Amino acid sequence: MGKSTNTGEMILDGLKTLEYRGYDSWGIAIKKGNKLEVEKKVGKIGDSKITLGNSEIGVGHTRWATHGGVTVENAHPHLDCKNQIAVVHNGIIENFEELKKELIKKGHKFISETDTEVFPHLIEENLKKEGFASSVRDSFNVLKGLNAFVVVYAVSKEIIAVKNGSPLVVGLGKDGLFISSDSIGLIKYTRDMFFLKDNQMIILGEKPELLELPGGTKLPFSLERIDWKIEEVSMGKYKHFMIKEIFEQPKVIRKIASEKDEIGALGKVIKNSRGTFFIGAGTAYYAAIAGAYFFSKIAQKHVNTQPASEFNYLEDFLTDESLIIALSQSGETIDVVEPLQRAKTKGSKIASITNVLGSTIYRMSDYKLLLNAGPEKAVASTKAYVAKLSVLLMLAYSMNSEIDKASEVLLKAADEIDRLLEHIEDIKRITKSLSHTRDIYLIGRGLSYSLALEGAMKIKEVSYVHAEGFAGGELKHGPIALISKNTPCIVLAPNDETYGAIMSNAAEVKARGGMIIGLSYQNSSLFDHFIEIKDIQEGSIIAQIVPLQLIAYFLTLLKKYDPDKPRNLAKSVTVK
Ligand code: F6R
Repeated sequence: MGKSTNTGEMILDGLKTLEYRGYDSWGIAIKKGNKLEVEKKVGKIGDSKITLGNSEIGVGHTRWATHGGVTVENAHPHLDCKNQIAVVHNGIIENFEELKKELIKKGHKFISETDTEVFPHLIEENLKKEGFASSVRDSFNVLKGLNAFVVVYAVSKEIIAVKNGSPLVVGLGKDGLFISSDSIGLIKYTRDMFFLKDNQMIILGEKPELLELPGGTKLPFSLERIDWKIEEVSMGKYKHFMIKEIFEQPKVIRKIASEKDEIGALGKVIKNSRGTFFIGAGTAYYAAIAGAYFFSKIAQKHVNTQPASEFNYLEDFLTDESLIIALSQSGETIDVVEPLQRAKTKGSKIASITNVLGSTIYRMSDYKLLLNAGPEKAVASTKAYVAKLSVLLMLAYSMNSEIDKASEVLLKAADEIDRLLEHIEDIKRITKSLSHTRDIYLIGRGLSYSLALEGAMKIKEVSYVHAEGFAGGELKHGPIALISKNTPCIVLAPNDETYGAIMSNAAEVKARGGMIIGLSYQNSSLFDHFIEIKDIQEGSIIAQIVPLQLIAYFLTLLKKYDPDKPRNLAKSVTVK
C-alpha cells in the first residue's frame, strides 16, 4: 500500500521476485473505491501482465498447493461471500474442516477446496459484531496450525497481517508500506524492515500498529536494515539463477574464509557442549552429514546428525546441556523449526547457521551464525550448500585452534572452483553422454559419501532423472544389482583415505558394464570420462560438488526444463 497508484503492477513485480517460493498459480486483489477487483491465473507468472486498474492498496500471492488442486478457484486471494475481504495465506489451517462446516451452517458459500477460504468467511462473520482489526484478531485466535495471513478489506484503508508460523516481513519505504513473506520481495523499495514474530498482528495504516495476540496488547517495534543489493536478486548476464549462483561460489567461500572471529566464537560453544547435533532438511541435511565427518576427522569430536524431520522422533535423550545446530538456507523450514521448538522445551541450546537475517530459525537461536552467501533464488541450493560446508570446515578446525589452516584450505578450494568453471565446456560435453539415461548412480566414501547424496539430489530435483548416491561400501550389499551395460556411475575418488577402496568399487561397477565418470585428482583406466579435481585436502571435497551441480544444470537444459523452478518444489518449505 502506498502513495503510488500502480499497486497492482508493483505486486505483480514482487510476486515475480518471490515466484521461486511457489509457482502453481497466482492472484492479485486491489481495492477500488469500496470494492475489490481480483485477477487469478493458473501456471507460472512469466511475462504476465495484469489488467486491474490503479489503486493504492492491494495484495497478491503465488501458490504452492497444499489443500486442493491447482485451479483458478483454489488460487489466492480468497474472498468472503460479499467479495469485500481478500486474504492471502501461507501455512495450513488444521481445523478448517470443522470451521467450514459451522460457517456453511451459518449460510456462507465456499467456492474453493482450500483451507484458506475459511479465514475471509470467519472475518466476515466477526465483522457483524466488531471492527476490522478485532475481527481479524478473533478469527485468527480460533485457528489451529501454523499460519500467516495478509488481509485487505474493501471499506478500510488498512492492511492487516498476522502470523504464528510462516514468515512475514514488513518494509517501510518512502513510497509506501509493504508486507511480504520474504525480504527479497521488498528490497527494491526499502531496506528498512521489521520481521513479524509469531503471535503478532500488524495494522498497516496511517501509522503502523503492532499488537500481541491473543489479547491485542500494543507492542513497540524497531526496524532492521537489510544489506542485500538489487543486483544480487537479479540474474544479470546469466540465463538462470542456478548457474549464476554456481558461479558465485568462489566469492562466497573466500568471504567465509575471512570470518574467523564469528565462526571461532561458535566453535567455542560447540567445544563446551555435551551432546552436539546437526540437523537440516534435504541439501542442508547432506551438509550436516559432511559436518559430522569434518568434526570426526579434523577435531576428533563426535557429532550426531539426523534429518530434521526425523529429529522429533529421536530427541528423548536431549538435556539442558545438549546443543542443536540447525543448518538452513532460508531459516524458515518448518521441518527444522518444529524439532528446535521441542528441544527448547527441554532446555537444550540452539545454534543456527542460516542465510537469512531475521528468519524464524535465526531468531529462535541462542547462538546465530549467518552464511552471508547473499540471496539464493534458484530452488536447487548450490551456493548456500557450499557456504555450509565452508563454515563447518572452519568450525571443525577452530576446535583445534587451527582456524587459519581452514582459511587456507578454503582459499585453495575457491581457486580450484574458479579453475573448474573455466572448463565448464568439458563438463557440458560429458553431460551429453547422460542425455538418454534413466538412472544415474553416485558413489563415494567418507566425506565423499555425503557429496554423493547431495550430487544425486541436485541431478534428480532439476533434471527429473532418477539419481541415487550410495556409500561405496554399501554397493555390494544391494545396489550393485542395478548396474548393467552402460549404467552411468559417478565415482568420487579424492586423494584421501577412501581412494583405494572407492576405486575397487569403481572396478566392480566397471566389471558389470557400468559407464564411469570419475571425479578425482588423477585419471584411471577405469574411467570412461575424467573430471580432474586438484588435491587440496578437504578443499577438494568442497570443489567436488561443482561438477555435479553443473551436470545437474546441463542435463536439465538438455531436457528443456527450467532449472530454477523444478516441478512440485518450492524454495522455502514452511508447511509440514
Ligand atoms: C535442494 C534444496 C532443499 C533444501 C531444503 C532445506 O536443493 O534446496 O533440499 O535444502 O528444503 O531448505 P533450507 O536450507 O532453507 O532449510
